[in-house]
Amino acid sequence: MQSELRKKLLNAFTNNEEEYLSGQAIADVLGCSRTAVWKHIESLRKEGFELEAVRRKGYRIIGTPDKVIADEISLGLKTEDFGRSIHYEEVVETTQKVAHRLANEGAKEGTIVVAEEQSNGRGRMDRKWVSPKYTGIWLSIILRPNLPPHKAPQLTLIAAVSVVQAIEEVTGLSPEIKWPNDVLLNGKKITGILTEMQADADRIASIIMGIGINVNQSKEDYPPELQDKATSLAIEKGQKISRAELIQALLLKLENLYKIYIEKGFHPIKLLWESYAVSIGKYITARTLTGAIAGKAIGITDEGVLLLEDGEGKTHHIYSADIEI
Ligand code: BTN
Repeated sequence: MQSELRKKLLNAFTNNEEEYLSGQAIADVLGCSRTAVWKHIESLRKEGFELEAVRRKGYRIIGTPDKVIADEISLGLKTEDFGRSIHYEEVVETTQKVAHRLANEGAKEGTIVVAEEQSNGRGRMDRKWVSPKYTGIWLSIILRPNLPPHKAPQLTLIAAVSVVQAIEEVTGLSPEIKWPNDVLLNGKKITGILTEMQADADRIASIIMGIGINVNQSKEDYPPELQDKATSLAIEKGQKISRAELIQALLLKLENLYKIYIEKGFHPIKLLWESYAVSIGKYITARTLTGAIAGKAIGITDEGVLLLEDGEGKTHHIYSADIEI
């Protein structure tokens, strides 16, 4: 089916949420014959959409394919800008690389790159990020805040809060944040965030924010050495979670918090972040590239920098580190 027609048809279904769409109504929307309507319905079925057909009422969508294709994300998306332009790939080396290219080509703020699988997913501190097919959310979003580069870490904290809120809303689970941006469930990692920046000396040109969420992996999908470190939403919840629904919730939370941040600054975000933080007030070890510092995490600064008080009462500013609690 031509993509324009497909879009029109899916839009017609979305705008009619609980209602059935009659064959005639579909024919009118698409400007085609009743026979062609049947063909279009069949091609949606082939893609994995479940359509119920009831005599004298028409059709309605009762199930969507378990993919994160653009239509799956768009259908029911409530944001203004975030995710309104979607670049979808079945397999990609890393969504970060694609997003950097799109940003260089002038892609607008809120453009997302999403893939079913990453063959070379990137984590923080040059680590790999395992991203198997159809199991997780592997997504990069392009942001273009009019800010100086030193404020970039604040955006990472916004992303962490958005992920927590989206997971809470969609699954009812209550994740926590480990500074700066690991999201944990029952002490195990569920999400990683990688923020990369293109900037000149005093302005950010674009932020490529990569978010990886482990959604539908089973325990056996993790190698034994990772089983007590990482988990998925499906493992913790005991049921599969719709990735498209979670992406929609995430984009809406992220857009809302980003707007608050641009209008009111970091303070309201900081309060939210602290309310979800697991490490604040605890004795931790921060492993930085230059060594380890142990002490009590006493809070974060207005820049999002972690404050660590060592045994001698000296406060250290931690900009980048792995935290052990
Ligand atoms: C971390 O080390 O905790 C950060 C992991 C970030 C993973 C995401 S998945 C989408 C995007 N593409 C990548 O290659 N990495 C980020």
